[in-house]
This record gives sequence, C-alpha cells and structure tokens, in this order.
Amino acid sequence: MSRSKETAVKSLPWLRLGALLAGVYLICAAAYYVGHHTVQLPPPPADALYKQKEAPIDLRVIDLLSRMTLSEKIGQMALVDKDSLIKPVDIIRYNLGGMLSGASAKPPLNTPQGWQNMIEAYKAQAAKSRLQIPLLYGADANHGSANVPGATIFPHSIGLGATGNAGLVQQVAAATAQEVAAEGINWTYSPSLDEPSDIRWGRVYEAFSDSPALNALLGAAYIDGIQAPNGDMKMVATAKHYIGAGAMLWNTSANKNYKIDQGTTAVNENLLEQEYLPPYAAAIQAGVGSVMVGLNHYGKERVIDSHYLITDKLKTELGFKGFVVSDWYGMYEASKTSIYQSNINAINAGVDMAMLPYDYKSFVRDVTEAVKSNQISESRIDDAVSRILYVKFKAGLFDATAAPPPVSDVGAASHRALARQVASASAVLLKNSGHVLPLKAGQHVLIAGSGADNFGRQAGGWTLEWQGVDGNWPVGTTSILAGLRQVAPTGTKLEYSQNASFVAGPKADIGLAIISEKPAAEGWDDNATPTLEASDLQVIAQLKKRANKVVVIVVAGRPLLIQNQLSSWDGLVMAWLPGSEGEGIADVIFGKTPFTGHLPLPWPSSTAQLPITSDGKTKDGTAVLFARGFGL
Ligand code: BGC
Repeated sequence: MSRSKETAVKSLPWLRLGALLAGVYLICAAAYYVGHHTVQLPPPPADALYKQKEAPIDLRVIDLLSRMTLSEKIGQMALVDKDSLIKPVDIIRYNLGGMLSGASAKPPLNTPQGWQNMIEAYKAQAAKSRLQIPLLYGADANHGSANVPGATIFPHSIGLGATGNAGLVQQVAAATAQEVAAEGINWTYSPSLDEPSDIRWGRVYEAFSDSPALNALLGAAYIDGIQAPNGDMKMVATAKHYIGAGAMLWNTSANKNYKIDQGTTAVNENLLEQEYLPPYAAAIQAGVGSVMVGLNHYGKERVIDSHYLITDKLKTELGFKGFVVSDWYGMYEASKTSIYQSNINAINAGVDMAMLPYDYKSFVRDVTEAVKSNQISESRIDDAVSRILYVKFKAGLFDATAAPPPVSDVGAASHRALARQVASASAVLLKNSGHVLPLKAGQHVLIAGSGADNFGRQAGGWTLEWQGVDGNWPVGTTSILAGLRQVAPTGTKLEYSQNASFVAGPKADIGLAIISEKPAAEGWDDNATPTLEASDLQVIAQLKKRANKVVVIVVAGRPLLIQNQLSSWDGLVMAWLPGSEGEGIADVIFGKTPFTGHLPLPWPSSTAQLPITSDGKTKDGTAVLFARGFGL
C-alpha cells in the first residue's frame, strides 16, 4: 500500500533531519578516511616545475610542497632506522623522508655490495611513491665507513684534531664520502662539533678538540670534504650535537645508566655564544645540510625542547637554511611528558626531521592529530618539509641518474695510504728522554701490551658495532704490531708477547708498551677514572725489567691519568684511535715520518682538575700535565 500524501507532508521535517544526519555522517566518514588513509591523488605531470633540473631550487620546493598532502608532508619528517622498518612498502605508504643505519643496523650480507643492494632497494621504493621524492639514507661514518669490513678506517676525530691540518681533514672526509657513496649512503652523521671539557666523557674521541676555533676550522673542512667545497652538496653532512655537548657536568646524566653523556650543560649564555656557537656558525657558512640536536639538557630544559636554541639561535640568528634532525630516540629520551606531547614540543621548538629508531607509525599518527588540533601549525610543518626538500634538491637527489660509484672505492689503496699518513700526523710525542725515539736500525725491541695486536682497540667504538669490537678483524686492517714489523729497518730485532712474557736473555734496547682502552661508545664509555688497565701496568713493569728503556704508546680515545707512572718512562706517544692502518704509527716510531701532532685538548693529571675550561683553567686551579697544543 502506498503512503498517503498527508503522511508524506507530515513526515517532511523528519526526512530533512534524516538527510542532514546522513550528510553529517558521510562528511565525518570521509574526514576519518582522509585522516587515516593516504588519499590517492594522481601523480603530478612529467613536466611539473619541481621535476625541472634547471629551475631554481626555491621554486622547485614551493611547487612540490604545494602538491603534497598533509600525510605526505609528515612522512617526509620521519627518519626510520632500517631495523625497525616493518615493510619496505611503508616507504611508499608513509612517504618516508629518510632511513638510517644506526650504529649496528647492517644488511644481511655485510659487504659494500650488500649495503649498496639494500639501500638501492629502499630508494627504489621511494621512487615508486606518488611524488617520487627521493629518500635520504644516513649512517654515522664518523671515521670512515666503519660498519663495513674492508672499508678504510680513519683515525677518530680526536686524532684529526691532533693533526690540526684542515687540508688533511678535508681529504679524509672526501675519501669517506666516496666510500659511503659507493654503498648507497647519501647522508653522514658527521662531523661532531662537540667540545669536551671532561675526559671522563665517553665521547671525547668523537670530537676534534675542546677549542672552538679548531673545531670551527676542522668542522668546516670536514663538511667541505663530505659535501663538496663552496657550499655545493654531493652528499649531506651533519653538524652535531647541537649544542653545548661536551660541557655537561659529571653525574648529571638524565640516563640512569650513564654518568655524563646525556647530562646537563651548565655554561652561561655568554660562554654558549662565545665557545659553542662559533663552530656551528662555521658549519653553516660551509653550507652544512643538517644539524643534529644533542641529547643533553641546557639548564633545566632538554635542548630539543628549546625554541630559543633551535629556532631563534640556529635558524634565525645564524641563518641555518638546512634541516634540524633529532638524535636517536631524541624526541623522547629523558622527556618528562608523553610521547604525543614530546613530538609537539620538539617540532614546535624547530626540529624538522625525527630520528625514529622504533616506531614511525605512531609518530605519523600523533603529528597528524596535533596538526588537526592546532597544536602544531601547518606553517611549521611546511617550514620543516621545505627545509628537508631544499636539502634533497641541493644534494641533487631528484636529478641523480647515475648508478652509485663502484664498490671497489671502498677500502681503495689511495684511501688506505691517506689513512696511514693521517695516523702518523695525529700521533703526539709527549716525552722523549735521551731521544729514545725514533727507534734506531739494529735495535732489539720487545713489544707488548693490550693495544699492540688488536685492531678493534686501535679503531675504537663505532666500528662494526656501536660499541666497537675488542679483537682482530681479518679484512684489510693492519695492527700496530703488523705495521712495526713492516716498517722496521733491516737489522732491527722485534719480539712480541702481549703480556710481556719473553724468554730470559740479555736486556733488550727498548721495551715498547702499546697500552690501550677497551673500545666503547657514548654513555657506556663514561669512566670515573680513565687510567691504565692493571694488565698493561704489569706489562710496563715487566718491560722495565727486560729492557734498558721503556717507551709507552697509548691507544685510547682520550688522555689517560698517568701522572704517577710518567716519570719512569723514557718515551710517551699518544696514538689516539688510529684506525685500520697501523703502519702510520710504525712510521713515526721508526722515524720514517716525523712527529707533527699536537694535543687538541689539555691532558689532565687528576680528576680533581675536571672540567677544564676551553681556555685551559682546571677546576682545582692546578696545572695540567700537558697543555693543549703540546707536542714534541
Ligand atoms: C648518537 C648520534 C648518532 C645516532 C645514530 C646516537 O646515539 O648520539 O651521534 O648519529 O645515534 O647512530
């Protein structure tokens, strides 16, 4: 039966209400869908402005940004550790801006070719996304491409600081860039511009020096080497850890497992301006593409939450045009608030890209929600993404057509020769009674100690593993002992025993004790009293009995406390962490190359002197053992 007209007229308001509700429902459903799914817009035309190589970068950025959805923008702000990528297709689905291999994240086949295959496959995913925005792939590469057996391992930065030679540093960085490029990497998390004032910190060796001027000089040289001189960019470098890292106070770490790493920087505003900002100003001048924010606090605030430090100082005052990236879990480490709120705080402070070692999905969800609820403005997102895109254009990632350089570049003979030269240039001669060094042809030399035949110790942390490896690594490395054997002039008699248990006989001319620190990194390497291991002290005592003169070579990432022993040694050489080419140390020991290194930071005689200000003042007012700049 049909419904009567009267009934229809009476029910009209109800129908209208029903239609209204249905409409609201549909709009809500659509909004929900848009918020939770990537809307499949059509790809841009082949001649879109941003795809045109000749167009000015700023215009390409504006054009591309105007074509991006909110979710595509937020995806660009995510930097995902490769070990936490759930599915490769997520690179497309989330339009991820970057991926990284944190210290230990390696391909299943850890060879240069294995790296290249893995990274190129990730990049190929990004190339399939709607806008085809290329992927940044980052790795630390802070002393060569040290995750890969066969790569050239250069001296850690503290050794580069000891060379004081900007030209050499630039060459080291350029060789590093060439090796990592062959593996598909296009972004390094180096150089460190930290300024260590306390040798108890586990990251002293990652820094060039405690001198703002030297850090500015060498930092800029390193950036020129990684990226290209004159502000060009063939690879992206990162100046880190912004800011005041190295000036944290002992026992202030926000991480309960650490002592000073991730601690509080307690320098006043003037010092921050005069001593910690200048290396960043120099890095920006050199055109550095990214700046990494440290995990330290400045005063009561996490640096990462500081709008003043990141936006006002770095971006506005220093004019940084690149993008700011957070450190490993840096958005959340030591945060007193929720993950959701931590994202908001850091992005609003000025962080542009978030290093997400564990969970990118919740980052994308949270930031989307925060933008929709106006807790982060769209203009802040646009600024962050524009900076990331700017660097990607500048580095030529959109226009690259060539395959990566050949993997034979990794560990190339010319790079190894350079690493050998730099190891020599980094060694600092600190004591030389009676000209015991260089060793002379024909001498009888007893060699012993934990650092003599241990590649892992001479390479230090960030080698193959985050904490390094303690032991020998068969591929393409020369221990100091092997170097000494190669370089020793004919007629010289070398004997080796790690624990100095030599067969009885007449006293040798020289006892060479190569003592070392175990490799370690970051807060794990914080050490209340960095000094000699008991076994090494024993080695020295043995050598004293068995040789007329004793020379100590220290293989360590920082000055060690040797005040009580030094007077009984005839010679002392600081070799730092020289890397894969042990011959470089042998060259200076046998006088094939002269000593030219100088201490890049003061060498304290006790922990009571710590911290030491960058103008050399100790905490207790007593004199250091050796001042910065010392070197015979
Ligand atoms: C370190 C950074 C490093 C990052 C990625 C962090 O733990 O503090 O210096 O770049 O890990 O490996």
